[in-house]
Amino acid sequence: MGSRFLALVPLLGGCPTVDLGDTPTDIGLCNPAGGIEYFEAMIWPEFVRPADTMKGCTRTGGCHDEAGGNALGFRTQPVDFAFNYRQAQVFLNCGTPEASQLLTKPRAGLDAHGGGDLFVAGNAADDAAVASFLAWFD
Ligand code: HEM
Repeated sequence: MGSRFLALVPLLGGCPTVDLGDTPTDIGLCNPAGGIEYFEAMIWPEFVRPADTMKGCTRTGGCHDEAGGNALGFRTQPVDFAFNYRQAQVFLNCGTPEASQLLTKPRAGLDAHGGGDLFVAGNAADDAAVASFLAWFD
């Protein structure tokens, strides 16, 4: 038994190691059921960058575009959806979607927010935007 085992030693030493590559950066991040497709089709035009430029998150100066300087910073020049989705994921809570900071910060009466209360309950357009946000997780 001893000598046959010793014959295996060089083989053991030479086992190739398989490089699994870097750990994907989004391990552990919330990935809502609607994914990046829903983010691009619904969340971006309705919630992040709506037609009404007084709403949304990417108003210039201290908000959430390239010049914002906050932890949440979207790329708008040009729009980079893969990057922006990844930014949004950091502020999502898949276990309790309505507790996602991406919602609680701009939603009136929940989290204090440097950008103010952008979604006020009872305002039809705001309620629709919040409902559309929560549908992302369905
Ligand atoms: C629907 C649109 C918006 C969303 C989803 C949103 C979301 C957030 C989130 C998740 C944070 C915490 C992470 C961070 O510090 O970056 C935050 C903070 C902040 N936001 Fe917004 N925001 C929105 C609109 C705005 C706008 C329009 C402004 C500027 C007028 C703004 C200004 C700020 C500032 C100054 C902070 C840092 C201070 C704080 O924690 O409150 N935000 N926002």
